[in-house]
Amino acid sequence: MRSEKSRSRRNFLKLGGSTALGLAAVSSLSCQPEKSQTENGQSLQQLNPIRKFPDNFIWGTATAAYQVEGAVNEDGRGVSIWDTYSKIPGKILNNDNGDIACDMYHRYKEDVLLMKSIHAGAYRFSISWPRVFPNGTGTANPKGLDFYNNLIDELLANGITTYATLYHWDLPQVLQDKYGGWQSKETSKAFADYAAYITEKISDRVKHYFTLNEFYSFTDLSYERGELAPGLKLDQKSVAQVRHNAVLAHGMAVQAMRQTTQSPIEIGVAENIVTAVPVIETPENIEAAKKATRELNAGLLTVMMEGKYTEHYLKGLGVNAPDFTDAELKLIGSPLDFVGINVYLANKYVLAATNADGYELLSHAKNHPTMASPWHMVSPESMYWAPRFVKDLWGTNKIYITENGCGATDTLSDDGKILDTDRVMFLKNYLAQLHRATSEGIPVKGYFHWSLMDNFEWIFGYGIRFGLFYTDYKTLARTPKLSAEYFKTIAKNNILV
Ligand code: NOJ
Repeated sequence: MRSEKSRSRRNFLKLGGSTALGLAAVSSLSCQPEKSQTENGQSLQQLNPIRKFPDNFIWGTATAAYQVEGAVNEDGRGVSIWDTYSKIPGKILNNDNGDIACDMYHRYKEDVLLMKSIHAGAYRFSISWPRVFPNGTGTANPKGLDFYNNLIDELLANGITTYATLYHWDLPQVLQDKYGGWQSKETSKAFADYAAYITEKISDRVKHYFTLNEFYSFTDLSYERGELAPGLKLDQKSVAQVRHNAVLAHGMAVQAMRQTTQSPIEIGVAENIVTAVPVIETPENIEAAKKATRELNAGLLTVMMEGKYTEHYLKGLGVNAPDFTDAELKLIGSPLDFVGINVYLANKYVLAATNADGYELLSHAKNHPTMASPWHMVSPESMYWAPRFVKDLWGTNKIYITENGCGATDTLSDDGKILDTDRVMFLKNYLAQLHRATSEGIPVKGYFHWSLMDNFEWIFGYGIRFGLFYTDYKTLARTPKLSAEYFKTIAKNNILV
């Protein structure tokens, strides 16, 4: 990545290398003139009316604070567990960190123009808790909120609808030190207070909220497997408690936000649902996969949707079950306005079975294709089955795909283009399954591509790129990839191409 210096520089020059990088990138996006795009758009719809997405379908992009903002020491921001973790030698590929990231903190205006240039009508961003409450609780830092106020105003002025995530893994370090982070219900309470404060301040303009992002990642992967910050390897009971405290934070926040909002808002989660896919789509296997999906999410999404732990889950944990009360379960099951799911893969394939569970979970076979991230098994059919099971299991009538996309190496061609045909292939297949879902009436209302631009990919640092825009980490120039053109064609015409 860093050895691309000379090419990146050429590309940077091509874009002008000024503060108007965003604008330069926008104008270089389309190989075709804008006019033929319009004509093209019309004929696309005439040719393929059957491939239309529902009217008012939302096409957006997504990012998260620590992955894009940078400016970690500015305007009174407190330290987060990711600042700490990324500085431990050997934890992150190339010892990268988010100190600068994409510098969106200073470049948000250009970035809003990038979104506009690809016809993204919505933006899912996350608010950095330690920017707003440097100590996790107590006195707010007004300058921290200023950044989000400015970003929100800029988005709205450009016709882009705002979707705010309140927690995307950057826990204030103070709460980790004081309470052991999500090991304590004090952190759940602190989150609810922070969430209530945010809605009080921005609900005049932000109408859609995701409480917390990817529970499994910041609970199991962070406290059991030690792969993400804070990098702990705790016993089963402690991890079950961490999970419980996280869903409790969600439930408490939902209630608190509804109290402080200035006007009607919609609240949901953004969860990386564990998706079990029927390997052969027979009625028996479909039923088995649905059952498996409910159980595989029992400690997280299922309890948030049902307000109770499944018997199977509690039995499996035995003495390691978390400490909880009925009142907490009621909070956890607080009614939501929508369900957001991050869909990247089929976690398991399923066959119906005559065992007690009624299903057999199959792991991916040895030669299953993957994208650049080692975990990323290519399985487009997850984009159909994940929302279908959310609807079938819980009767949800509003679903967002809060993340989908793929990592790639993304090299620059000699003339400075990024022809990411791998990402276009990936998207074509996943979006075909999304189209299958919407055309069957599964109530998916919008799709947020992960990500707007290449950014800090957690333990993979800057080594794996997920953006529609290429980020040159030396110059911070953003350049549209071929996939940006593909996304634009779809978003503009609201049709599968
Ligand atoms: C899900 C996470 O929410 C996001 O932060 C991450 O970058 C993507 N997956 C890709 O791994």
